[in-house]
Amino acid sequence: MFLGIDVGTSSIKVAILDPASGRMVGSASSPEVELPIQSPQPGFAEQDPRDWWEHTQRAIAKLPREQLRAVQGIGIGYQMHGLVLLDSSSEPTRPAILWCDSRAAIIGSEAFSKNSTYCREHLLNSPGNFTAAKLAWVRQHQPEIYKRSRHAVLPGDYIALKLTGEVRTTFGGLSEMALWDFQSKSLAEPLLETLGLDASYFPEAGPACGIQGHLTTSVAEALGLAPGIPIAFRAGDQPTNALSLGALEPGEVAATAGTSGVVFAVNDQAVFDADQRTNVFLHVGTTAEAPHGVLCCVNGCGAMLAWVRNEVLGRAVTYDELNALAAKAPVGSDGLRVYPYGNGAERILGDREPGAVLSQIDFRRHGLAHLCRATQEGIAFALRFGVANQPRPSLVRASTGNLFQSPVFAQSMADLLQCPVEVRETQGVLGAAWGAAMGMGVVERPKLAEAAARYEPGPTAEPLLRAYEEWVNLGLSVLGQR
Ligand code: XUL
Repeated sequence: MFLGIDVGTSSIKVAILDPASGRMVGSASSPEVELPIQSPQPGFAEQDPRDWWEHTQRAIAKLPREQLRAVQGIGIGYQMHGLVLLDSSSEPTRPAILWCDSRAAIIGSEAFSKNSTYCREHLLNSPGNFTAAKLAWVRQHQPEIYKRSRHAVLPGDYIALKLTGEVRTTFGGLSEMALWDFQSKSLAEPLLETLGLDASYFPEAGPACGIQGHLTTSVAEALGLAPGIPIAFRAGDQPTNALSLGALEPGEVAATAGTSGVVFAVNDQAVFDADQRTNVFLHVGTTAEAPHGVLCCVNGCGAMLAWVRNEVLGRAVTYDELNALAAKAPVGSDGLRVYPYGNGAERILGDREPGAVLSQIDFRRHGLAHLCRATQEGIAFALRFGVANQPRPSLVRASTGNLFQSPVFAQSMADLLQCPVEVRETQGVLGAAWGAAMGMGVVERPKLAEAAARYEPGPTAEPLLRAYEEWVNLGLSVLGQR
């Protein structure tokens, strides 16, 4: 058995996988309600890494003891691009600065202007709002904390540290930080120099799949796991999700629509995206030669839907009810348009943060059903906009555990991406468990879960693509410049 841990933004999920049958034999999560994000100033998004560890332990404690005793390896998937700063005793020196925190976007874009040839050719990315730029923000604005900190790592590295006592990261992790030089296959020292950062903050890196430490005896005893079992996989939640959907070879495409929405295309020849609507990261693998993942992220995806449910409909309404309501409104939501940009700097908009916009409300025609549909369509429009200049996929695979549960959303994605969307019974957390089985050489690839539903582009594609064009044009005038 393999234990997967998914350090999400809204909760920590854990699952136990039996790779022989491909079945998830146990799963749990913590907390029950969404983990809060602290936003002490506009644009800021922080969480305390200690809370992730607390909820990891609580979630694991909910799993049956006999299953835990049978676990032979652990894999970790985690919210990407966050900055966790640790002191010399490996204690956090400040709250983590999350992926959807916008404060460092200006620093990243200035570094790009200063060193754009290097960034384009070696990083395949602008430093944008990624971890390296966040560390530069701490150096500039909180120099005491910067000096007191010894290591800069990612959320998953922190959980691995709690399990093994070792501070490490991965090659893919460095790429998430915008610190992976794809040419020299090493830490991007020239960018560190541009940002005025010290290379010693970054611990030793290794591949995502493979042994990267062992469970300490004290943690094993506290969690009911066997001491010494390896941590055999660690990667960002998006590559981990792609793995769970079997998207490992060039040409394969996976999508998620959790807090953020992502289209992730595996590619072995990725280049810098001149429009910067997509980014290139290292996909999972056993070496630094892993293929690339071309990733388009919309921050405000499930985050937008959750806001509509929690703040407008009320928390008593379930997502199934919300989805059923969305299905009652016509395709194109009768002209109601939603721009889901309320969750930090949006990469597809050049790291601008216009805030979410609800546009063209007609009091005589629009009701809650329109709002629910327009929200799901607006999220799908944003994803389509993000990948508009990428090759059209032949198939997109998504898992059931998120917005793809909504037939309105899944059909909209098939119509807008103009390719079939296959929804499979899996979750990112299972990708982490499969990754551990791969990292220990027990399996070569994950077994693909059953397809729960398949959506083909249909008669709704034409009116929806028209609505999309209108959404793009209208966006030019309604999106502000916060
Ligand atoms: C991907 C990204 C988000 C987070 C969410 O680049 O920033 O999808 O990984 O956890």
